[in-house]
Amino acid sequence: MKRAKAGVKYRDLREYLEILESKRLLKRVKTEVDLRHEIGAICAMSLDRRGPALLFENIKGYRGIPLVCNILSTTAQLALVFGAEADEEKIYSRIVHGMENRIPSATQGSGPCKEEIYRGNDIDLYKFPTPVWHELDGGQYVGTTAGCVTKDPKTGIHNMGSYRVMIKDRTTLAANIKGSHPVGERPSSSLRLSGGAVHHILQNEAKGLPTPIALAMGMDPLLTLASGTPVPADDKGQTEYEAAGGWRGAATELVRCETSDLLVPANAEIIIEGEVVANVRTAEGPHGESTGFYGENKEGFQIKVNCITHRKNPISYGLICRVFEDYPRTLLRSGSFQSLLIRKNGLRNIRQAYLPEVGRLGMVIISAKIGDAGEPRRIMRAAWENGGARWVIVVDEDCDVRDWNDVMWRVCSAADPKKDIIEGLARAPRSRMEGEFDPPSCGMGIDATMRFKETKFPPVNEVSRELMSKVVSRWREYRLD
Ligand SMILES: Cc1cc2nc3c(=O)[nH]c(=O)nc-3n(C[C@H](O)[C@H](O)[C@H](O)COP(=O)(O)O)c2cc1C
Repeated sequence: MKRAKAGVKYRDLREYLEILESKRLLKRVKTEVDLRHEIGAICAMSLDRRGPALLFENIKGYRGIPLVCNILSTTAQLALVFGAEADEEKIYSRIVHGMENRIPSATQGSGPCKEEIYRGNDIDLYKFPTPVWHELDGGQYVGTTAGCVTKDPKTGIHNMGSYRVMIKDRTTLAANIKGSHPVGERPSSSLRLSGGAVHHILQNEAKGLPTPIALAMGMDPLLTLASGTPVPADDKGQTEYEAAGGWRGAATELVRCETSDLLVPANAEIIIEGEVVANVRTAEGPHGESTGFYGENKEGFQIKVNCITHRKNPISYGLICRVFEDYPRTLLRSGSFQSLLIRKNGLRNIRQAYLPEVGRLGMVIISAKIGDAGEPRRIMRAAWENGGARWVIVVDEDCDVRDWNDVMWRVCSAADPKKDIIEGLARAPRSRMEGEFDPPSCGMGIDATMRFKETKFPPVNEVSRELMSKVVSRWREYRLD
């Protein structure tokens, strides 16, 4: 594989882990630990302490196959992933840039993920250490870091998404696949949306056909990040693989599956090949979720496994889902959402679209160079049209969207409840399933911009950039550190 020109210094999960370790951002856990709850509790506690990546090398009953966790949770880790400075805004710019500059993927004859191949009676999903993460979880979850690959039966466009996937027995999985554009709620779009796995499955089921699916596990982190993020196909039909290529600055290398014509990442640690059984549903859950609640799906899709391929000495990679988890969902979704607003709505004056951690994807704060009085509402409508969030706060371009104090100062100072706060578009409830957290379906738009309001705002008493840089350059002289 050609080395990437950009700052990405690894080509697969293994090389990323080596870099983490060399920078003391990874610790090996050699004490024996239990897959049932103990690993989940260690990961949760370490995440709250903003701890390092954890490589569990001594898992009860699993000598020889390690499990790595907590590899995408800190800014220092994400800076290495994207080859950027350890600064959230700089990482964010890389995300938007990669989405906007996708690189076609490259298919090759074979790859490391084919080093060992298992079929028939040799298939055993319990071979790899897969935790029961939370105390009320109903089983072992392989699919929190796996990229589930399917393709559109009509267009052939591939899609990769991350979904909770529970082991039912040695050769059967249950998957909670809903996706970012639930059926019946797809935004009208001039873009060629690939449709997620659920659309592929339902199209095939209508003809009584199974849907080929592959779970790529232990992928290079850029692919893991593309997988859990909505990546609408661009006008060339490029999706997650090509967005990851854009971030890397080099093509994602793919190989064909053994039992279907799906393309999967050549350097993944483990590939589970199978098919979603047509018109069969099976219970999945409960499973502790990123909403902070347990979720379960009594009508999950059933996956029959046909083949497992893996690298020699495979490494498992697991992720505990919780409010603060090992996955920068909001950062990635923010980048993906801004890219959508630019490409679909032409809103190039948007400086940043930020989905804050609180509100779990229900709120977006958008800073923009406002050109006229009607612009904040146009931005709100575009945000709702693209299904980004229920609450939309629009602020001027000089606002730091990551700073609640700055955002709320503008809301309190500039948003007149009679004129500047409007009700958001009602959407059909996202979740129609019992046992699943279902947030309110209606939101609100808050125009907290100041530029074109009737109120004439006095000058803002911020220290100017020039004065600030002068003071910063003399900071040592003041001896204030
Ligand atoms: C750790 C993690 C777990 C997720 N679990 C689910 C899930 O169980 N079901 C689901 O529909 N989406 C889940 N998602 C969100 C999807 O991966 C995301 O919406 C993705 O864009 C779906 O792609 P699709 O719209 O192409 O299907 C999860 C994301 C992450 C990062």
